Amino acid sequence: MSEVTNTVRFVLDGQIVEVKGERRTTTVLDYLREDLRRTGTKEGCAEGDCGACVVMVGELNEAQTGVDYVTVNSCLQLLPTLDGKSLKTVESLKADGHMHPIQEAMKDCHASQCGFCTPGIVMSLVNMTQTNPSPTRLDITDALSGNLCRCTGYKPIIDATYKACEHKNALHLKDQGDVSLLKEIKRADQPTLSLEGEIIVQPVVRTKKGNEFVSPSSVVEVAEYLIKHPNATLVAGSSEVGLQVNKEFRRPDHILYLGHVKELKEVQTTSAFWRVGAVVSLEEVLHLVKAELPDFAEVLRRFGSPPIRFTATLAGNIANGSPIGDSMPCLMALNAQLILRHGAKTRRVALDAFYTGLKKNVMQTSEFIEAIEIPRPQAGQFFAAHKISKRFEQDISATCAAITYVKKNDKLSQVRLAFNGLSPSPARALAIEKILEGKRVEEVLAAEIDQAIAQSYNARDGLRATWAYRSLVARNLVLKFINTEMSEVTAA
Ligand SMILES: Cc1cc2nc3c(=O)[nH]c(=O)nc-3n(C[C@H](O)[C@H](O)[C@H](O)COP(=O)(O)OP(=O)(O)OC[C@H]3O[C@@H](n4cnc5c(N)ncnc54)[C@H](O)[C@@H]3O)c2cc1C
Ligand code: FES
Ligand code: FES
Repeated sequence: MSEVTNTVRFVLDGQIVEVKGERRTTTVLDYLREDLRRTGTKEGCAEGDCGACVVMVGELNEAQTGVDYVTVNSCLQLLPTLDGKSLKTVESLKADGHMHPIQEAMKDCHASQCGFCTPGIVMSLVNMTQTNPSPTRLDITDALSGNLCRCTGYKPIIDATYKACEHKNALHLKDQGDVSLLKEIKRADQPTLSLEGEIIVQPVVRTKKGNEFVSPSSVVEVAEYLIKHPNATLVAGSSEVGLQVNKEFRRPDHILYLGHVKELKEVQTTSAFWRVGAVVSLEEVLHLVKAELPDFAEVLRRFGSPPIRFTATLAGNIANGSPIGDSMPCLMALNAQLILRHGAKTRRVALDAFYTGLKKNVMQTSEFIEAIEIPRPQAGQFFAAHKISKRFEQDISATCAAITYVKKNDKLSQVRLAFNGLSPSPARALAIEKILEGKRVEEVLAAEIDQAIAQSYNARDGLRATWAYRSLVARNLVLKFINTEMSEVTAA
């Protein structure tokens, strides 16, 4: 963190943009609309739900020969996180004065009415076709799962995607010039972006010295910075922090962005576990676990939407500690371990011993999550997980449950079961584990599980489900998990 600068540099449509004098909490969306007057990108909800603000953000690929893009919700991303990256908005698509094939097809198929959702939809589809020019219907609906359209209906949009994909060679963005520009703005070390001059409450303007957006390159720098500034706000994917900025008007003095820290982007695979660095995206984790833990991958496929999964992280989900956090039941069932770091010291904490109450955990001042170690399933070990929510994707759980066990002499053994949505933090269901342990599946009584649920949790109706529904569904998931395995064993 040797360099200190007040300039954010990124590539936009074949040019380097240098931004000075912005607040460190200005969102990419606000900058686009208010400063650049690129008003094609819309604001619907400002909380990641509607997709009207979707843009593409690119980084040099590993070989440094091209640009890898993801979609992001520009309403949630802070402008300084763009430093060193490339940005594409709906205005970027009119290369050579022609519309992109996705736009042409949207027009031809009458896939837009009021048009408010259209730029975001177009960007989601263009992003998908950069790596997948022959999508299936499921690929298309997955890509669009974070884009809400209230007037057109999705059939013409899906038809338009198929039609555009007839022109495979025209789908790729004309961005070769961006490669050299991205190399030009690459910094040897990530700088401290000293963005001062915060607008606190209009019309009071207060300038605070010392406010910073810090973007270190190494985990040692993160640890040292947190010791100096224990109240700094860590930002990984920004899907929670962006909400706090937009909806709670939080303006942290010190923001510590982890997106450029090499060690935190790494995944290590051994025969026993995956070690997932704290800024590895959920989308990457989904692909990592898919072959061995398809149910975990399915829970992740239903986690938010692609723009959320491309940026959000397991560490952010765990540190945020919401009672309905979706990754935690899966990770607890698998006995995931957290590697916590404080200065030069690290310690391991089992995720099932991490939470001490509602959004409370054992992390100490200046400590942070460096990595998550996820045990890989071993021979004979069964894993199942399922999320219950009103909508299939981009929705919050009523409950999400996960289980692991092995069968010894036809009896359930080494059972680990965890839920979210039943208690102040995601947690193992120890009383139900005890009921299942050592039993044959046909010996497990629904009434016993009901009783354990009634005794273990405070019955509370919530916005997303009544307690009667939640507790019934929790019991039924347990029965489904143990019976699914029985039928699989029989079939084999
Ligand atoms: C539209 C939308 C849909 C969503 N859908 C779901 C869903 O389906 N299921 C679900 O469970 N959640 C969902 N979320 C919540 C959120 O996306 C997740 O909690 C996500 O995993 C947070 O990760 P992040 O990297 O974006 O965290 P950030 O916003 O970057 O950080 C979240 C918190 O964790 C802290 N933090 C980040 N990294 C570390 C670290 N390494 N060490 C210590 N503290 C750290 C931050 O300071 C902050 O307090 C959704 C959110 C949105 C906006
Ligand atoms: S404005 Fe709705 S997702 Fe960003
Ligand atoms: S066209 Fe109006 S919201 Fe989609």
